[in-house]
Amino acid sequence: MNLKPLKFGTVTIDFPVVLAPMAGYTDAAFRSICKENGAGACYTEVTSAEGIRRDSLKTFQLLKVSELDHPIAGHIFGKSVEAMVEASQYIEQLGCFDWIDLNCGCPVKKVVRRGAGAALMKEPEEIGEIVRAVKKAVSLPVSVKTRIGFSPSFPDHLTIAKIVEDAGADMIAVHGRYACNFHGGPADWEKLGEIKRALKIPVIGNGGVVTPEEAVEMVRVSGVDGVMIGRGAVGNPWLFDQIKNPSLPAPSLGKRRETIETHLLRLVELTTATAAGRSRKVGFEPEPAACLHFRPHLAQYIKGLRGRRDLLQQLNAMRDVKTVMNAVDKVMEQNQ
Ligand SMILES: Cc1cc2nc3c(=O)[nH]c(=O)nc-3n(C[C@H](O)[C@H](O)[C@H](O)COP(=O)(O)O)c2cc1C
Repeated sequence: MNLKPLKFGTVTIDFPVVLAPMAGYTDAAFRSICKENGAGACYTEVTSAEGIRRDSLKTFQLLKVSELDHPIAGHIFGKSVEAMVEASQYIEQLGCFDWIDLNCGCPVKKVVRRGAGAALMKEPEEIGEIVRAVKKAVSLPVSVKTRIGFSPSFPDHLTIAKIVEDAGADMIAVHGRYACNFHGGPADWEKLGEIKRALKIPVIGNGGVVTPEEAVEMVRVSGVDGVMIGRGAVGNPWLFDQIKNPSLPAPSLGKRRETIETHLLRLVELTTATAAGRSRKVGFEPEPAACLHFRPHLAQYIKGLRGRRDLLQQLNAMRDVKTVMNAVDKVMEQNQ
């Protein structure tokens, strides 16, 4: 697909088709798999600015990055300007992030109740205040991930986007759905186009891309500078390379198996490192925990294959890599 490298501040994304932040999914293990398969950049899972302030161990684990991740954004949410500034300074000090991304679109109740995430879109001036303060406090580039609005009756997409730009953000990624619709229904790529035409900073479009054709269509309709992919990459990390090179064949069963195993082994490694940092180790075994965490990924990796239903029925009882991979092999054999 014809997309130019996307530049903002000190960041260059050579191939601007990027992995969306997804809590519970886009840990370092999955990010590395997507990066190896062509994703141009990625974000951490959403991390609480207040958590960083409180010294929460869980929060710091969300900020673990690997060499494969770059360029990568530290993606944070919060309501107070002070917490967002402190968290951004902390992320900058870590020295392993390429930019800072501010979440202004998460519709999850516990986030919105605190006035953070998507709730900020109801008072877009607050987004402006946060962006201005964070920009002043750090030297890393700063972006915002937002939506086309909280609901159709709240300040419109152009108002929010202009506030973000005027406050000094270096880039904006917009999910083309209202927060009140969570992740359902079609994304509005026309509105992404209106935002693109109204702003000078780069705009990444997000929402509803699960095939290479849809990535091309989003860019055609909206003219955005980059495409962000969330659920379409789960179980299909090859999508990035397929967008880059549409003549690539679908991955073979052997390739799928290899990716599943690599992903699961990296998750075990990550979970083991996480466990090593815990003060309370009672009842926490890394390999079973990684196998449980891997379930939604595996369900997507084997989508459309014969034998999937049987595997999914036994999945909850599978607590080690060998058992999971034996079950995967059985599925692959049925589809030779
Ligand atoms: C399970 C899940 C977790 C998500 N977590 C985050 C998050 O932490 N931060 C964020 O900005 N968006 C989050 N999102 C939204 C995605 O980044 C993306 O905007 C949304 O899925 C739409 O893109 P898609 O249609 O390509 O999936 C999440 C979405 C899902 C499905």
